[in-house]
Formats: sequence, C-alpha cells, structure tokens
Amino acid sequence: MVNQLKGIRNALSKKIKTHGSISFRDFMEMCLYEENFGYYSQEQIKIGKNGDFVTAPHTSKLFGYLLSVQIKEFFDILEKDSSLNICEFGAGTGVLAKDIMEFFMNFYPDIYKRLQYTVVEPISKRRQILGEKFIDFKDHFKVIEDFKDTKGFKGVVVANELFDAFPVHLVEKVDQDFFEIFVGLNESGDLKEERVEVSGSDRELREYIDRYLKKLPDNYRTEVNLDMKKWIRNFSSDFKRGFCLIIDYGYPRDDYYADFRNRGTLLGYTRQRVTEDFFRYPGLIDMTAHVNFSDAAGWFQDAGFRCEGFCPQWAFLGGLDIEQTIEKAFGSLEPFSPVLAGVKSLIFPQGMGESHKVLVVSKDVEPKPKLKGFKMKNDLARLK
Ligand SMILES: C[S@@+](CC[C@H](N)C(=O)[O-])C[C@H]1O[C@@H](n2cnc3c(N)ncnc32)[C@H](O)[C@@H]1O
Repeated sequence: MVNQLKGIRNALSKKIKTHGSISFRDFMEMCLYEENFGYYSQEQIKIGKNGDFVTAPHTSKLFGYLLSVQIKEFFDILEKDSSLNICEFGAGTGVLAKDIMEFFMNFYPDIYKRLQYTVVEPISKRRQILGEKFIDFKDHFKVIEDFKDTKGFKGVVVANELFDAFPVHLVEKVDQDFFEIFVGLNESGDLKEERVEVSGSDRELREYIDRYLKKLPDNYRTEVNLDMKKWIRNFSSDFKRGFCLIIDYGYPRDDYYADFRNRGTLLGYTRQRVTEDFFRYPGLIDMTAHVNFSDAAGWFQDAGFRCEGFCPQWAFLGGLDIEQTIEKAFGSLEPFSPVLAGVKSLIFPQGMGESHKVLVVSKDVEPKPKLKGFKMKNDLARLK
C-alpha cells in the first residue's frame, strides 16, 4: 500500500510537472485507473463487507437472481436471435456474473446450454484474474478487452455501478462565472486544488454548462460526466440489437442539480466510510460521483436507443417474481438472519432501494415491450 501511494504520487507529480496543472477529471482517472497504481488496477479490488464499499451483488445473491428474471424476459422478447448473449461491463470481482450464470444453470438449463456470458474488462490484470476465477464455466464465459471484439453485439448488456466509476469534470459557479477545478502542486510538492475559468476551447464542457448549468445558484460545485457521453457513443456503434440494463445510484437532472446539492455528489470511499479528502491517499480510496440519469437517457437516445423505463431499484426488483425468486435463491428466509438483512438492503429505502435506480434502453426491438421490471413504477417522464 505504501508503494502504491508512493507510485501514484510520483506519477501525478510527473504529469503535473510535465503538462502543468491537470483537470480534476484527469486526476480522478489516474487515481482510479493508472496502469500500475490506480485503485481499480490492483489485484484485489476492495468491494464487499471487508472492503471499502458494498455493491448490490455483494449484498445478496438475490440481486443477480432477480436481474436474471428480467434477462429471461429479454431473451423471450429477442427470441428470433438464436444466440443468448449477456455482456457485462464493470464486472468488478465477478459476483454478479456468477449469480446470473448459476440462476440459468439451475433453473433454465436449456437457456444455459446456449448462454454466452462475456465480461468487458479493460484492465489486463483483472482480465487474467476473472479468466482464472471462471475456469469451470469456460464454455459459457469469456473476458474481452474491448466491446468491439463482439463484432456487432446482439443480446443483453448489464452494467451495475459502472457509470459512477467514470472520471468527472468538477465545475464551480462563483460570482456568475464558471470555473473548472484543476489539480496542481504547491511549493512543497503536495497536491493542491486550483480554479480555472472554463474557456470556449473546452467546447463540450462549455456547451454542457450553457445548456444545463446556467441557472445554478452562486457558490455551487457539481460534476459533469462527459466520459459517460463518450462511452455511450462508442458503445452504440458495436451494439446491434437488444437491451441494456443499467443500475446505479443517481438522480434525474432536476434532482441532480437541485439548489441544496451545492457540494455535488462526488465522494471518496475507504473502509465503508466516506471522505472528501481526495489528495491525502490518492489511488488508495475509491472515488465516485452519482449518475445523472437524464444525461444517460438523452445520450442513449441520441445514439439510436429507445428508453424503456426508469425507476428506483426497490420497484424494479419488486416486480420480478420476487417471492418465487427468493424461494429459488434461499428456500425460505429465517427472520433476523444475515441473508434476510441482505435482501432488505437491496429493497429498503434506507439501503439501496431508493438511492439506486434502474434504466433500461433497447435497440431494434419491436414492438415496444411491457417489461416486468417496470410494472410497479415507471418514472421515465422524470428524465425529460
Ligand atoms: C464500482 S465498481 C462496480 C463493480 C461491480 N459491478 C459491482 O457491482 O460490484 C466499477 C467497475 O467498473 C470498471 N470500469 C470502469 N470503466 C470501465 C469501462 N470503460 N469498461 C469496463 N469496466 C469499467 C472498474 O474497473 C470497476 O471494476
């Protein structure tokens, strides 16, 4: 850990000394993904009860089982394609992949026989780890570096907590002017924050600010996730037909840029605690910003997708044959058991039920389907 901290500090200083101050987006990208020292480039990524933060698949296998119920419906709708493909982005330690494959293996063996599960993992160390972990599933599982390698994907794409891990631009409105936060070095060589006026040369960021942020109150700091836009644009050219199931914490635009949220949503996580001190242990803490689901939906539409639905996680999971699926996952649930506690945190508003949202988009799927996951609630109109 000491070497990692030294390594990332040296890499950051070198970059800043060579290029001058770097944008917060570039700083965050290095902290998370720098080839040798980035948070997600390590052999162990610290997700789970004993790690830095917990995600839904690490909370209960019911999450993967319930998503599988929705995926089964997607497969039924896509029936004219003979291949049954699932492609997951940001698979992390692979828990969700395991639970989804286990669900089909145990309850739909005919589907499982034809199922191909692909994980897209840009980090080579992690590709190797996942490949070894899933050796027993090898006829049904592969890890690839780039979505392009699917050569025109048809099927179902799953991404749980992917977009929140993208590096974001940090912007601040002060005295009616917009500034971008940059990271430089002080006289002692330590990282320090700088404010740089947003210029016309950064066209995409300027356009975004002009379109959506002009009305923000003064002394307001927030994030803009332009990497999500780029990702959706690239992704769409290799996605031919099917559904994408996106789960993450976040809000529609009006909530995201609500007046009271004047410190934005960016946070660091370490050992299940939050921190806003991003300079103390760069590379050793997770850094994450909530997802602006209006942006995501709009950018998917611009790229030729149709939005099928958007709702909180509790409503989505609650619509997916939850009682029968609990029985499939656990038989019965003992009162006060850790298993029941896991199920509750997926659904309850104090857990991930309300903070996490589900967005489903489709391409080349006709007629427009009515999906089980949105039978309790569909808030798509809120993303306008
Ligand atoms: C917050 S973790 C979520 C892990 C997992 N989905 C879970 O729920 O436990 C985000 C993951 O997304 C990965 N990631 C980030 N950008 C990616 C990209 N462009 N393609 C694929 N994975 C990416 C990170 O390396 C990291 O493993």
